[in-house]
Amino acid sequence: MEYGPAPESTKEAQAWLEQRDRQFGLFINNEWSAAGELFASINPANGAKLADLTQGTAADVDRAVAAARAAQPGWQALGGHGRAKIMYSIARLMQKHARLFAVLETLDNGKTIRETRDVDLPLVARHFYYHAGWAQLQAEEFSDYRAVGVVGQIVPWNFPLLMLAWKIAPALAAGNTVVFKPAEFTSLTAMLFADICVQAGVPAGVVNIVTGDGRVGEAIVKHEGIDKLAFTGSTEVGRLIREASAGSGKKLSLELGGKSPFIVFEDADLDAAVEGLVDSIWFNQGQVCCAGSRLLVQESVQEKFLAKLRARMDKLTLGSPLDKSMDIGALVDPVQKQRIEGLVQSARDEGCTVYQPACELPADGSWFPPTLITGASTSAAVAQAEIFGPVLVAMSFRTPPEAVQLANNTVYGLAACVWTENISLALDVAPAIKAGVVWINTANQFDAACGFGGYRESGYGREGGREGMYEYLTSKAEDARPAAPVIEPKAKAKAAPAATGGAFAIDRTAKLYIGGKQARPDGAYSRAIHGADGSFIAEVGEGNRKDIRNAVEAAHKATGWTKATAHNRAQVLYYIAENLAARGEEFAARIAAMTGTKNAEKEVQASIERLFYWAAWADKYDGLAHQPPMHGITVALNEPLGVIGVVCPNEAPLLGFISLVAPAIALGNRVVVVPSEAHPLSATDLYQVFDTSDLPAGVVNIITGSADELARTLATHSDIDAVWRHDGSAEGCAEVERLSATSLKRTWVGGAKGRDWYSTAQAGGRAVLAHASQVKNIWIPYGV
Ligand code: NAI
Repeated sequence: MEYGPAPESTKEAQAWLEQRDRQFGLFINNEWSAAGELFASINPANGAKLADLTQGTAADVDRAVAAARAAQPGWQALGGHGRAKIMYSIARLMQKHARLFAVLETLDNGKTIRETRDVDLPLVARHFYYHAGWAQLQAEEFSDYRAVGVVGQIVPWNFPLLMLAWKIAPALAAGNTVVFKPAEFTSLTAMLFADICVQAGVPAGVVNIVTGDGRVGEAIVKHEGIDKLAFTGSTEVGRLIREASAGSGKKLSLELGGKSPFIVFEDADLDAAVEGLVDSIWFNQGQVCCAGSRLLVQESVQEKFLAKLRARMDKLTLGSPLDKSMDIGALVDPVQKQRIEGLVQSARDEGCTVYQPACELPADGSWFPPTLITGASTSAAVAQAEIFGPVLVAMSFRTPPEAVQLANNTVYGLAACVWTENISLALDVAPAIKAGVVWINTANQFDAACGFGGYRESGYGREGGREGMYEYLTSKAEDARPAAPVIEPKAKAKAAPAATGGAFAIDRTAKLYIGGKQARPDGAYSRAIHGADGSFIAEVGEGNRKDIRNAVEAAHKATGWTKATAHNRAQVLYYIAENLAARGEEFAARIAAMTGTKNAEKEVQASIERLFYWAAWADKYDGLAHQPPMHGITVALNEPLGVIGVVCPNEAPLLGFISLVAPAIALGNRVVVVPSEAHPLSATDLYQVFDTSDLPAGVVNIITGSADELARTLATHSDIDAVWRHDGSAEGCAEVERLSATSLKRTWVGGAKGRDWYSTAQAGGRAVLAHASQVKNIWIPYGV
């Protein structure tokens, strides 16, 4: 059946632009500034200019931050219900003006009206409703938390208004005020949103919108008056932001690129999978961070599936995005088109087969036909790079393990689709895929109740759901943290005595602990550890880069720990506590000798209790079953990160060590730990405790030596998933954050402040468990 043209009217949108003289200043403190240096906003479907926007400056960002800072206490003081009413009003107004927003978005971005009208706008309204709810419940559900403060938010051009909603709604619900920067290609719906804020009664300074290119983004990132940064965009810029904000103490969430697999097993409903694939890769011209851009299809059905797919591609309609019968609209900008063309050409040059249906591309604007590439190697640029266009790369696999291996063969980890009629296979494969979202027999589903965000180089932090709220909240216990601990310089070190400790004294040098075995340090150097009174106690190995490498390898081999049941992990933690208690006096004596404390017994007791505490949590940090508006469930799993590098505090050397290692391993992570540099011996004394407590080899690896040097190695190691540093070194923590940018590993650093390791408020609770885990949302529709 042929469809006739069904164009959507742009009358109202054009009238709104005319009413604004097609020129916009900045929206700061509920006022529009006079337009400054201008840049054009273009309709990508025909190249026509829609309006002029202002290129913000660092001074504008200053004004916006000052307005946001001044407004924040009042916004917070309005209380949950006060904020909920205003957010409800925003949601209502967005619905009332949904068509105007949808048309404006289509004009500005080039995506089809079907998508803006039926996907973007309903999700935007839903996001404000949902978060109005969190504002209402905040005092009850997040009573131990406060708003972070002033938030800087930077978004890309692919879902301009939806990304605005994902950013602004949770921030406002939690009591923050925002400085928001839309993408330079697509700022118009943010301008209209500013009008909505005024109509909804958002107080002045709560929402500030500064338009412009990356320079405005940089000014936001570097601004000292901002407490949290939230960014969606390219992995490249995400890295720059991580580096630029290192050591600033700003909270950070990054939602970056992806190269998501779309896996089709031989028993899948192939026709449904083809439709899912259309939604997955040709939705928004493939300019979607979670686009299913890598098709992995089981060899036995490959030909059949690809034939169906090509037949479906032949039917896709491409043309004016305002035409309601179009499937594919325009690309956002000629720059994007050039990038896509370059990558597709590289596939041709490598001998791949490129299939494109015969479709006529409009003469003006930026267009690219739906494209299927076959015959690419796994290392080809098109198989690895985020193309961010309507280009699908297809490969085949034979067995489920091979499908998982290919799916994970990417630096990214944003999303995945699994198509099979076998629920057991689907639920076996979903947890094995390293991605923040897995859709089973569906694709590109989003909802405000379900967290969205990545693993690996797709970033960290979640948007949506309860987990998304934590990104905009700070635990009140953080405010109570003590000043940086002062490690007293040692009394003048005394030389090693010939023999101490009576008739049975034998020299003991603590080695490293790697893969369940004591190992000599690679460099064959040791360092002397002296007591509080300066007397020599023992030597410990001086670990180096190679030792860390060996430890990481051992940790990676210990996969059995991650697969073990939570009950089993809890049992091991209890057992460690039991064996530590049996040698409590010896540990207390060691702590006293190293630190000179009079509270050594108390520290051992607290360590035993802390082991019980995390053993208790091991099988209670449950996931959630969300209720999105779908016939089915979305299961949120708290998954371990993998291998965590841990640099321990110097104060409370045993308790600090246990307080960091126990929650990490309780959730199934493996660790490479650098114990207190000043007082490492209570950690090296634990080797025998671990050996007698059924702790599998490689789960805990201990490398003594220089905290700075070893932390640097941990932060740059590509096979470590997260680094925690809590030794009170502000520069050291900043360095870890800066170096983590290379592979975008997660970090949890204490900065210059100390922590009361005896307090479960400061050293326990869900906040610590959140650092040790990442949420994966698995969408399981039924009856389809
Ligand atoms: P981008 O990452 O450069 O831009 C995203 C936002 O960051 C924009 O608002 C931009 O003005 C801002 N920005 C740019 N440089 C900045 C800096 N140094 N500091 C702070 N903010 C800065 O993405 P772009 O250039 O629009 O697209 C390039 C490629 O990135 C695309 O082809 C695609 O591969 C990828 N991309 C991925 C997205 C995703 O959601 N995963 C979204 C947009 C782009």
